Amino acid sequence: MFVSEREAALALSSGDLVALPTETVYGIAAKFDDENAVNNIFLLKKRPQSNPLIIHVSDVQDIFPLIEGRPDYLETLATKFWPGPLTLILPIIPHAVPANVRACLPTAAFRIPNHPKTLNILSKTGPLVMPSANLSGKPSATCPKHIQDDFGNTLKIVDGGHTNLGIESTILYYHKGLWKILRRGALPKEAFQDYFSHTQEPSMTKKTLCPGTHYKHYSPKATLHLNLPTKTTCTVLGFIERQYPSHNVRFLGSENTPKTVAKNLYNTLRKLDEDHIEEAFIDMHFPKTGLWETIRERLVRASQKI
Ligand code: TXA
Ligand code: MG
Repeated sequence: MFVSEREAALALSSGDLVALPTETVYGIAAKFDDENAVNNIFLLKKRPQSNPLIIHVSDVQDIFPLIEGRPDYLETLATKFWPGPLTLILPIIPHAVPANVRACLPTAAFRIPNHPKTLNILSKTGPLVMPSANLSGKPSATCPKHIQDDFGNTLKIVDGGHTNLGIESTILYYHKGLWKILRRGALPKEAFQDYFSHTQEPSMTKKTLCPGTHYKHYSPKATLHLNLPTKTTCTVLGFIERQYPSHNVRFLGSENTPKTVAKNLYNTLRKLDEDHIEEAFIDMHFPKTGLWETIRERLVRASQKI
């Protein structure tokens, strides 16, 4: 059900959940200090309570009363990248951030999203938690149809069309004087090179500090293979410039435009299920740098069944 920005702000203030657009993916919003509404998000998404939520604000000043101390480069990062697809995990003042938001961790995740409608709503409601607007484990929602497919027509939605970037924010974590990338995202690691040289990268195999990266994620029902098929009858996800022996080729986009590939990635994965395709083979021959690294990581995760 579509609602206006005004209706969304009123609904959120009275404890309701509303799906809001951001520049990355859609989120399901609730007031961060409304315990009941936050619990309802976990129930609706079927999300484990141990997976904490990102607190979204419209102004960096809203964060300072919630956090403990001032990590190096916080202001620099905030000035350079907010509003935008960057999430920062910061140590918090425990009584200032409800435990269910942060899964009882001593830190919380913060972001200022870059979307005029959602910034307007945030300026009226104050801080909102906003996990991606998908059933837990499925590809994130990049348009209202994806939200309706997962949750039906009863959830209130502010329509922002298709999201600009199509892939989630990059998450940085400050620990013992170092910033680390916990989740690859719409900002590639190269984006941070001018600001500090300490970022370490997430490992796909090693246990990381980002609880969300332990769960099945971004997965369609279809089985995904990270190689090209030998049979001609299979579905292939590939690039428009290339020839494939398969008869059923679906395009991820161009090998020259990772931004467009990222923007359409979740829609391409969701479309497999919509068209009842049970198995697809992916052309993984693309660069290992920049946004391609995020795309590769999402495809690897999407192909994992657990
Ligand atoms: O682009 C985005 O970040 C989108 C839009 C809606 O803003 N949101 C999003 O939220 O992707 P979600 O809940 O789907 O992913 C948040 C990730 C999870 O992997 C979670 O484990 C991690 O952030 N996270 C949240 N708080 C954390 C904390 N205190 N420490 C470590 N990881 C945390
Ligand atoms: Mg998510």
